[in-house]
Amino acid sequence: MPVITCIDDLKHIYKRKTPKMFYDYCESGSYTEQTFRDNSSDFSKIRLRQRVARDLSDRTTDSVMIGRKVAMPVALAPVGSCGMQAPDGEIKAARAAAAFGVPFTLSTMSICSIEDVAAYSPDPFWFQLYVMRDEDFVDTIIERARAAKCSALVLTLDLQVLGQRHKDLKNGLSSPPKLTLPNMIDMAMRPEWALGMLGTPRRTFRNIVGHAKGVTDIANLMSWTNEQFDPKLDWSKVRRIRDQWGGKLILKGVMDPDDALMALDVGADALVVSNHGGRQLDGALSSIRMLPQIVRAVGEKTEVYMDGGIRTGQDIMKALALGAKGCLIGKAWLYGLGAMGEAGVTAAIEILRNELDVSMALTGTRNVRDIGPQVLMNPPAPGK
Ligand code: GLV
Repeated sequence: MPVITCIDDLKHIYKRKTPKMFYDYCESGSYTEQTFRDNSSDFSKIRLRQRVARDLSDRTTDSVMIGRKVAMPVALAPVGSCGMQAPDGEIKAARAAAAFGVPFTLSTMSICSIEDVAAYSPDPFWFQLYVMRDEDFVDTIIERARAAKCSALVLTLDLQVLGQRHKDLKNGLSSPPKLTLPNMIDMAMRPEWALGMLGTPRRTFRNIVGHAKGVTDIANLMSWTNEQFDPKLDWSKVRRIRDQWGGKLILKGVMDPDDALMALDVGADALVVSNHGGRQLDGALSSIRMLPQIVRAVGEKTEVYMDGGIRTGQDIMKALALGAKGCLIGKAWLYGLGAMGEAGVTAAIEILRNELDVSMALTGTRNVRDIGPQVLMNPPAPGK
């Protein structure tokens, strides 16, 4: 077993163990992948400020997200088809997150259902909602999330149509994979994955199958999105969903200060500055570049989180320094899941926390909640 020291190590193992179509699904942006690349590379343009001779004892990464104590201000982002990356992937990730003390978000497009995860997760989790044309389905899934005691609804606003990811089309991505010769050869080369998948009944989109009427091609995310996602989703529908849910509401996919103000107006408990990991509008700015403007637009009136490009604890520190109250990670935990299942998700979260903790020490910060522009060498100028 190689010595695992960073998120990239988990990614290498994940790549080896996982069928190509699912690795590619994770590791793709839309179209030219400009935004996908910028999400990570823009972090490297931000530099931290080294401080010395400070009391570094008793550091803490404990914080609060939407009123709940967290061991670090980081949540696991929703990931579609996650249970294809590793058997029962959503259950494993939810358990790792609960044990560590950070929120897990279950995607509408998950393999394990809300009920599957609720049966195995010791803690309440967040549920991510995609708004479908079928209002009965939306009503019912909100009730299912409530019955499962989900502690927040994460409403994704940036995927009513799907940005094209070339590799998914070329690979014929579907869940479960079609039994073509190339797919069978690929799966046979990943025996741990294949045996695990044979050993679980959870191999299709279990939030949808048996719950949505008239579904024709659920295996294919692109056709399903085109057929079922509601192109009429607007702020009045957001309000309707807010009222129906009645609990904590997080709006995900905000990349513009005007939309951030609308999210405030709707009464969101938090919003997530997100371009969907560079998987939707190719050419959008990176999330970390947009973050300061959004924070300035909403001030302290709601919590601002961000996702996109976080692969290190230093990245988390930079996002917090630029005003995020929390971060969502996606690929980082997925690499861990595909590499080593539940233990891999735990490893990913621990790596990030250790990196964040050391960065706090070396910037003279003892409490994660004190991270601010003072830890940056080049904080953005006002108005930028
Ligand atoms: C779905 O959330 C996707 O990005 O594929």
